[in-house]
Amino acid sequence: MNKQLEKALYQQLNREYFSAYQYLAMSAYFEHQSFKGFASWMRRQSDEEMEHMMKYYTYIIDRDGEMAFESIAKPIQKFSSPLSVFQAGLKQEKEITKHIHNLIELAISKKDHATHHFLQWFITEQVEEESSFKDIVHQLSLIGTNKAGLLMLDKKLGESASRES
Ligand code: FEO
Repeated sequence: MNKQLEKALYQQLNREYFSAYQYLAMSAYFEHQSFKGFASWMRRQSDEEMEHMMKYYTYIIDRDGEMAFESIAKPIQKFSSPLSVFQAGLKQEKEITKHIHNLIELAISKKDHATHHFLQWFITEQVEEESSFKDIVHQLSLIGTNKAGLLMLDKKLGESASRES
């Protein structure tokens, strides 16, 4: 595999790992706030990011690529509200999407059709993930500081996390 592309792929693996770590930190924040449903939903997101990370790992290994593991950055652990958590999550997903687009452009420029094909799955996945975060940000914006509304959404997300796991 082209060395520049190989490096870009394991950098993306690192970003997915960081997403898992960040969502776990968000889950812990919700646990401390007693929002058990939000905590479960974020934990489920964290698990999904680990699956994404492993997809990159398997792909790099399958392509006989060299792994160069780097440090995982420290996640943000303090937030001002559930809304601020999901806004940060949406920002993280947008960042991931941007990097996947860059990766695809690099794969095309290196005429690496296998990597181009491999990355297509992530394009679809990112549309879904951004949409989930966007919906929750929107709902939380409408709820504002209404405690009953927050508890209802917490319950709903907890149920959806347990359905998916
Ligand atoms: Fe794997 Fe949510 O980006």
